[in-house]
Amino acid sequence: MRTVRVDLGDRTYQIHVGPGARRGVQNGVDQLDDVRQLVVIADKTVAGLHLKRLITDLRPEPLVLTFQPGEKSKSLPTVERLCDQLAEAGIERNAVIIAFGGGVAGDLAGFVAATWLRGVRFIQVPTTLLAAVDASVGGKTGVNLARGKNLVGAFHQPQTVIIDTEFLETLSARDYAAGLAESVKHAVIRDSVFLDWHEENVERIVARDADALSDLIARNCEIKAAVVAQDEREAGLRAILNHGHTIGHALEHLLSYELRHGECVALGMLVENELACARNWLGRAEAERIRALLARLGLPATLPRPLQAEEICTACRVDKKVRVGAVNFILMPEVGMPRRVADVTDADIASALAVIEPAS
Ligand SMILES: NC(=O)c1ccc[n+]([C@@H]2O[C@H](COP(=O)([O-])OP(=O)(O)OC[C@H]3O[C@@H](n4cnc5c(N)ncnc54)[C@H](O)[C@@H]3O)[C@@H](O)[C@H]2O)c1
Ligand SMILES: [Zn+2]
Repeated sequence: MRTVRVDLGDRTYQIHVGPGARRGVQNGVDQLDDVRQLVVIADKTVAGLHLKRLITDLRPEPLVLTFQPGEKSKSLPTVERLCDQLAEAGIERNAVIIAFGGGVAGDLAGFVAATWLRGVRFIQVPTTLLAAVDASVGGKTGVNLARGKNLVGAFHQPQTVIIDTEFLETLSARDYAAGLAESVKHAVIRDSVFLDWHEENVERIVARDADALSDLIARNCEIKAAVVAQDEREAGLRAILNHGHTIGHALEHLLSYELRHGECVALGMLVENELACARNWLGRAEAERIRALLARLGLPATLPRPLQAEEICTACRVDKKVRVGAVNFILMPEVGMPRRVADVTDADIASALAVIEPAS
């Protein structure tokens, strides 16, 4: 079992990674003071596959609430329904909420935990690779509005994160690859040696080799934890985690969530690396290398259908990363050296988008 610490003063917590880690959930609960009620908020698909293994012998016996899988559930109406169910069951302040599922479960249940009775404790038990390497760490929770992603949210750190790699066995190849996009992103922004490691271990990673998987997840958690520990509330450094996301979020929104978040981030990285190449920052060879790695890991290299450059630029502006009228991008002068820029023009975006245009 690997353990990673997220250093946040009195909100410090640990992440446990490995096969069978779920057996540590009870321990995580027992270490908290005065837990009188447990609530599991689970993605329906995940509940069907793995709930029994999670809650057998769990004490106190949890109330289990489920929601329909998918990004559309990350919404205020779902929050309202879940809170109604908490009210009906008489869930009090000393309860602990367990988020069980992918990034949607973490963001949604985390937001419910942040706001129910002005905040109750919660534990993350991520079951997708994307949630394991990214979403479950760092305390960002929230839901979408029709106008854009994650527009309503709160910072709320979990008490602990338990990542049982056995839960990942049932993940579709597509969802698994989507998580790898965030792993490549972490390597690109912070750790060129880890980028090499991805290239050297592509076969083991794709085959979900148990050791490779635990190593990959633990390293991602370390990278994210180090960034979050320095900048919990995204005053500065934490923004580097948004590499690939300015374009990625715009695509996600415009394609009405037809592509996975991680798939959009992969496409976003391709476009944003193109923007970097155009300023003579990232070398062509490095951009090509990242492109080849993403493709070998099973990520898309082109859009599923054509989109207008104009609508992508407009969607970028709706994203939260707009400050005083300018769209922020995290571009790479070189691997491991991200920089925030706000001077990318619509024309720059339009020409960089050629890199992900669907073949006609
Ligand atoms: N809070 C953060 O810091 C942060 C960071 C990155 C992403 N996110 C958010 O995370 C979300 C994306 O997360 P995701 O990709 O995990 O999506 P998701 O939660 O929708 O899961 C993807 C699909 O996998 C299924 N699934 C989950 N676990 C499974 C398992 N073990 N076996 C089989 N199927 C399983 C789900 O039912 C779903 O259909 C987005 O909403 C994104 O905004 C948040
Ligand atoms: Zn992301």
